[in-house]
Amino acid sequence: MHQAKLTLDPAFKVAPVRRRTFGTFVEHLGRCVYTGIHEPGHPTADEDGFRRDVLDLTRELGVSTVRYPGGNFVSGYRWEDGIGPVERRPRRLDLAWHSTETNEVGVDEFVRWCRKAGVEPMMAVNLGTRGIAEALDLLEYANHPSGTTLSDLRVANGAKEPHGIRMWCLGNEMDGPWQTGHKTAREYGRLAAETARAMRMVDPELELVACGSSSSSMPTFGSWEAEVLEESYDLVDYISCHAYYEEKDGDLGSFLASSTDMEYFISSVVATADHVGARLKSRKKINISFDEWNVWYLSRFHDTGAPQDWPVAPPLLEDHYNLADAVTFGGLLITLLRNSDRVTAASLAQLVNVIAPIMTEPGGRAWRQTTFHPFAQASRHAAGDVLRVEPVSPAYETKAYGEVPLLHAVATHSPEGTTLFAVNRSTDGPLSLEIDARALGGVRIVEATTLTDPDVYARNTADDPTRIAPRPNPDVEPGPLRVLLPPMSWNVIRLA
Ligand code: AHR
Repeated sequence: MHQAKLTLDPAFKVAPVRRRTFGTFVEHLGRCVYTGIHEPGHPTADEDGFRRDVLDLTRELGVSTVRYPGGNFVSGYRWEDGIGPVERRPRRLDLAWHSTETNEVGVDEFVRWCRKAGVEPMMAVNLGTRGIAEALDLLEYANHPSGTTLSDLRVANGAKEPHGIRMWCLGNEMDGPWQTGHKTAREYGRLAAETARAMRMVDPELELVACGSSSSSMPTFGSWEAEVLEESYDLVDYISCHAYYEEKDGDLGSFLASSTDMEYFISSVVATADHVGARLKSRKKINISFDEWNVWYLSRFHDTGAPQDWPVAPPLLEDHYNLADAVTFGGLLITLLRNSDRVTAASLAQLVNVIAPIMTEPGGRAWRQTTFHPFAQASRHAAGDVLRVEPVSPAYETKAYGEVPLLHAVATHSPEGTTLFAVNRSTDGPLSLEIDARALGGVRIVEATTLTDPDVYARNTADDPTRIAPRPNPDVEPGPLRVLLPPMSWNVIRLA
């Protein structure tokens, strides 16, 4: 039996739990928007054509912010195509996903959906094929109260109140050669800086995200962040990180340890940003918006069809997640929380159908993927402050990262209680976890749940939507506090 222990102490605060850690992402990609959040003919559709079943699941997931409209899509997007009477909106080629964009949903519909879902909109501007003027136009249209041509146009389109969008991404993955309008770090850094400067003239309170690297394996990783921030340091608040992980060549051990790369990514970007800050003699700190993260079977994704085929809302990137994916995903979420001092915003990519926790059938059912559960539980139970926990755990050897601990954990603490989130990465046995909670006073375990299954590749489907779901963990001992974490499991242990 594997044995591990950790100590919970409210004195070991990392940072407050950031609600924006629980952001997600809606891109005009595949069926994320159309037949995802929006499907006018669906039996649950509301008066605006939004699927109520998806709205309910979005609320249950506990989403804070939603990034929109892309992603790669944004780098060819003309935002004004998506406003005004729907029947007059143009149909366009979407180069990013080789699809036809009907523009039935645009910024006004998206913000209306956000209000219904109770989430904060986070908008990206196109710095691929467009620039400062179009970003300013969108900002004026969206946020200026009234009295100018663009703001009055929004009012005439039915949105009397300004949208009040605070967080703006200055483009998307501009380091990637796949991006329409891909740029060098200097080119992008200058454009991001001047776009930010102009947007701040409209509203100095905006929170602006400069594009960082599309992954830690990009050839320009490190130098990209440094050059972009040298140009834009005083004008932006965040640098973005994007990371996707998948099980490759049957190497489950390395896959389960994917958060090791995420940890390295975060610490490298923090060090780079602080280095630039030091050279600029700035006291300001740039934080991280980890605005795309997930498990994504990217190697299984092959182009979007025949060259002459430009479908509307085709099924793209519809990964079906298994237990191993959910446990790895839980480890990534733990890493984001552990770094809450500098990762102050994040967006799970994406929300529905496209590498998503929520799946739908067109005209039919919606269900929770395995990855839904770690996200929903963490969003619901993470409260107050993030506590640093330093588990003492046995390790295992991985091909990709060397020795990695079997246990990965973080805790949060508020006057209402303390919650421990933990994954057991072991594929061969349970982990007996001893919790030293003396510093919390006389606490007891009020709830322990575990997400596990004898088949690590078991999934949820429309016909069997609850095969993988959190269940009560019966293996709990009161004193000293001890919980048995099943092999390959995501666990939530609540103390009060
Ligand atoms: O989330 C899917 C895609 O991944 C996004 O469009 C892009 O930004 C990233 O490469």
